Amino acid sequence: MEFKEYIAGKITEAMEIIFGQSVEGVEGFLETPPNPDMGDFAFPCFKLSKMLRMGPPAIAGKLADAIASDAVIDRVECVGGYLNFFLHKSGYAQSIVERVLQQGDQYGSSDEGQGRVICIDYSSINIAKRFHIGHLSTTMIGNALYKIYEHLGYKCVGINHLGDWGTQFGKMIAAYLKWGDREQVERGGVNALVALYVRFHKEAEADPTLEDEGRLWFKKIEDGDPQAVEIFTWFKDVTLRDAKRVYDMLGVKFDSYAGESFYNDKMQPVIDELREKGLLEESQGAYVVNLEADGMPPCLILKKDGATLYATRDLAAAFYRKKTYNFYKTLYVVAYQQNLHFKQWFKVVEKMGYDWARDMEHVAFGMVSYEGRALSTREGYVVYLDELLERAVEKARVIIDEKSPNLADKDKVARQVGIGAVVFFDLFNNRIKDIDFRWERALNFDGETGPYVQYTHARCCSVLAKAGQIAAAPDYAALDNPTAQEVVRTLERFPEVVREACQRNEPSLVTRFSVELASNFNRFYYENHILVEDPAQSAARVNLTAATASCIRTALSLIGVEAPEKM
Ligand code: ARG
Repeated sequence: MEFKEYIAGKITEAMEIIFGQSVEGVEGFLETPPNPDMGDFAFPCFKLSKMLRMGPPAIAGKLADAIASDAVIDRVECVGGYLNFFLHKSGYAQSIVERVLQQGDQYGSSDEGQGRVICIDYSSINIAKRFHIGHLSTTMIGNALYKIYEHLGYKCVGINHLGDWGTQFGKMIAAYLKWGDREQVERGGVNALVALYVRFHKEAEADPTLEDEGRLWFKKIEDGDPQAVEIFTWFKDVTLRDAKRVYDMLGVKFDSYAGESFYNDKMQPVIDELREKGLLEESQGAYVVNLEADGMPPCLILKKDGATLYATRDLAAAFYRKKTYNFYKTLYVVAYQQNLHFKQWFKVVEKMGYDWARDMEHVAFGMVSYEGRALSTREGYVVYLDELLERAVEKARVIIDEKSPNLADKDKVARQVGIGAVVFFDLFNNRIKDIDFRWERALNFDGETGPYVQYTHARCCSVLAKAGQIAAAPDYAALDNPTAQEVVRTLERFPEVVREACQRNEPSLVTRFSVELASNFNRFYYENHILVEDPAQSAARVNLTAATASCIRTALSLIGVEAPEKM
């Protein structure tokens, strides 16, 4: 039973009987009152006032008289311009709790996305650069969106649009052939590649011919010279090998690693089409699409020397994705520093006459700083993601050793808690906000943190283990008290939260929901004995506990955080 829908139906019915008018979208007007003394649902009558030429309190009064108590609705009250609905508490609790239990990990799912493909471009790391915490948000927001859309029935394609094109790779080959050796790079991984690149720049200051050598090698990559391509492909393998270790720790996967270089042979048709459509303009030897009328600087398509750009490759990639996946939407999970870039080339697609330009969305997010200080490669203030995650695991291990010295499988739990804490912290705030990563905030077991939510889940599991099987049929009157009702109301909201997180591409809604559910459950837990003398009452409270555990697990899984059963 959908309570909201039911109540909306009653209101619509009453509207027709008393006023002879029907209103659209009553369900959308229904609100959850801030305080349970005001009922389970509230219907504000203000918007009807103009149409009915009557004050909101008078409308509410008339509607209240017309809606009778029944098996679902206990009573209706009007306060000010609001119509407040009170449901029969035990029937309400029973219905929600049993729904959550019956649907299990499918709770909150739907098939609204049936037959629709969502391409998600996330993480999109750069070759020969080490994975640092600046890439955490794109990775985890993208991963969460993938799971959220999937929960709603969409088919997702996760794309790691690798930054694997540019003159720097020619320089790296030159550096490698001069000073590197295969074994050292194999052993040192991406660090060895970075070191070569740094050395190249240092030595190039004294010897400018190095730059020419770098350019030459890049040209060779472009022309498909076997040696150049072999080395370059190997650089990519080395980088991805290191990155995959991080992805494994985070539990993140991709369906495609088609990076920038993949589009080398796919740009010419786009350039030709731009030219045919009269959109390409020459500007100081380069070719651009003029966006003056749209209030933006021109979108650079070809450089003076004929080289393509980041935007050219993004254009080619968009056409490729449309053709290959026929996406319903494509999301680009990329920092807000690239706002202009996306606005520009989305506009170019629109000017080319493709209405699917509006199906592409830049899902922007803020910057990360670390312990109050902005990260800067130049100043050497970088935090590598693998190191951060390993430290998180160590710190979690220390806390667990102290809190639960007898826990089995401490290593595994420390991994789940430590990494979960980092991911949770990253996904806690509105994505557009800048984040300042702080250990004492991420790992605080009593704050609005991953460990807190995980701990609540483990607490539920331990209650369930203690309770065992209860034979008696549950008596849901045992959930008639305010704290239990609050948990029920929170559980009920989950499907709506998932839907909104999807509509707004905002995983933090799910993160925050999990904290709310956990803290409401804890309040219930402190104020009620779950296992009482009457087995029927115990059974109802145990069911509420089981539903909470299940819903927390699902919510955490949607944001890519694990839920250990014991902590
Ligand atoms: N590699 C780029 C960077 O690290 C991000 C690429 C994002 N995706 C895209 N299609 N432009 O800044």
